[in-house]
Amino acid sequence: MARKFFVGGNFKMNGTVSSIKEIVDNLNKAQLDPNVEVVIAPPALYLVFVREHVKKEIGVAAQNVFDKPNGAFTGEISVHQLKDSGIDWVILGHSERRTILAESDEVVASKTKYAVENGINVIWCCGESLEQREAGKTLEVIAAQLAALRSRVSDWSRIVIAYEPIWAIGTGKVATTEQAQEVHASIRAWLAKEVSQKVADETRILYGGSVSEKNCKDLSKEKDIDGFLVGGASLKPAFVDIINSRA
Ligand code: 13P
Repeated sequence: MARKFFVGGNFKMNGTVSSIKEIVDNLNKAQLDPNVEVVIAPPALYLVFVREHVKKEIGVAAQNVFDKPNGAFTGEISVHQLKDSGIDWVILGHSERRTILAESDEVVASKTKYAVENGINVIWCCGESLEQREAGKTLEVIAAQLAALRSRVSDWSRIVIAYEPIWAIGTGKVATTEQAQEVHASIRAWLAKEVSQKVADETRILYGGSVSEKNCKDLSKEKDIDGFLVGGASLKPAFVDIINSRA
């Protein structure tokens, strides 16, 4: 089964009603490659607005979800509330939440398990810091993050993996095509060995970290790069060029 190319837009904590409306209008008007799955992730406050206004072919993702049913969890949003609002994706394990909000591998795995078991698709992020890369620990760090996920999750059909080296996020310092391909291939090999060949063949592995309209074409040609998770550039008209990088 061919893996459908996937481009996600992570707005992070950016945007206003008017700027998000502009992004949505721009996407609605654009000619988007029909062979690409597009999912955008606005801040929680704007999820319903975006779902109601963006064309139905574009998916909408939350940037976080809790791992318990509804209840006394101040500040959190449940999987059931996302589904009730027509939101069927969530980003989990982003390095900004792992580092700034101290989410451990185990917390991320638990949220991912709860989401996929209750019908929400997950863009699950992993990646190493500059220090870890320079110490030659990249593959080891990612294998540990994957192992924590595997210990809780058995259904991988709702998971898209995003490899986001922390040193490339928001820095303008994109991984080279060789650096990205090497890690993507090793993630796929890990899946084949530790989960199954079928999961390795079918799981999309995205690259994230300073993706732009300038570097996306070369990255998209790599055999194990099945799309992108885009931060800053997803707020700009150039996001359309990234979606259409293979057209
Ligand atoms: P930038 O594209 O702004 O580097 O962010 C990448 C990212 O963190 C997407 O989740």
